[in-house]
Amino acid sequence: MGILDGKVALVTGAGRGIGREHALMMASEGANVVVNDLGGDAAGGGADATPAQDVVAEIEAMGGEAVVNGGNVAIFDEAGAMVQQAIDTFGDINIIVNNAGILRDRMLFSMSEDDWDAVIAVHLKGTFAPSNHAAKYWREKAKAGEDVYGRIINTASPSGIYGNVGQTNYGAAKAGIAAFSLIAAQELAKYGVTVNCLAPTAWSRMTADLMGGDNAPDGLAEAISPRWIAVITSWLASPEAQNVTGRCFDIRGENLGIAEGWHLGPVAKQTDDPADMGPVVAELMSKARLNASMAGTDHEGPGFPSQSI
Ligand code: NAI
Repeated sequence: MGILDGKVALVTGAGRGIGREHALMMASEGANVVVNDLGGDAAGGGADATPAQDVVAEIEAMGGEAVVNGGNVAIFDEAGAMVQQAIDTFGDINIIVNNAGILRDRMLFSMSEDDWDAVIAVHLKGTFAPSNHAAKYWREKAKAGEDVYGRIINTASPSGIYGNVGQTNYGAAKAGIAAFSLIAAQELAKYGVTVNCLAPTAWSRMTADLMGGDNAPDGLAEAISPRWIAVITSWLASPEAQNVTGRCFDIRGENLGIAEGWHLGPVAKQTDDPADMGPVVAELMSKARLNASMAGTDHEGPGFPSQSI
């Protein structure tokens, strides 16, 4: 018996890295899995069915059930076809893990329109599109008086919720995904569907070079194996997680935390005259919590917003 016995999952970008681990772990917990992956390079170029096919073969070798989907999450109709493939093949769709992603890091002044559009499309639209198709399906089921079991697990990033240099495109998409998750959680609560998001840190094709590649400290790749991201994800997909929704989990290896969202901090009254605002803002800044570092903790140091003006 697994915690996902009989459930049907779609994992996007499941041919490699974190998505592959999601698919393998969910299958090992009893889920039937649609393994989606376009199979392009890390910047989003090209396509190759092999990675998704290999993951399906691995699942079948361990006695599980899975099918390949080679669609592009950023194309609305292809996202719809992924959801439909789950329903046609396994009779339902219960779990959507929006994980597919690409990276095109540039400083703002060097970023092309295409770098912006491609990253926003794969991450942000690629989260909306499968979720929208599944949400329509779940709502119709509920209206027909049928039981609904629905889970959406999205993939944000420390870059989106804390902020990382060189990633205005990626971080904006990831912050959007975090906001999308909070709002969709509220909208789908009446159908019993939960929506949560992940802010992972893991060793993968996307990050290995940024973390030192072959020169990385011994044991780092293992300590932050993408398998760790699949543990909380599989649990969030399970029946026991029914009351966990609208949360963002920061995962770094075995360390799991909840990233707390924006809150209104100190407040003050504005002056009529903008010339008199300096002391008002200085007082607010002295009371406000610092923005987080990429570690998620209060940040101090050169290059970061200070507490005073
Ligand atoms: P990865 O590059 O190993 O895997 C991403 C997969 O998505 C690839 O197999 C790729 O073919 C697929 N993909 C890309 N565009 C697609 C599209 N349009 N349609 C379908 N599939 C597509 O990267 P990794 O690290 O496993 O990333 C997974 C997710 O986790 C991404 O959303 C990434 O932004 C996010 N993430 C990863 C972090 C890390 O430390 N590895 C940190 C924060 C977020």
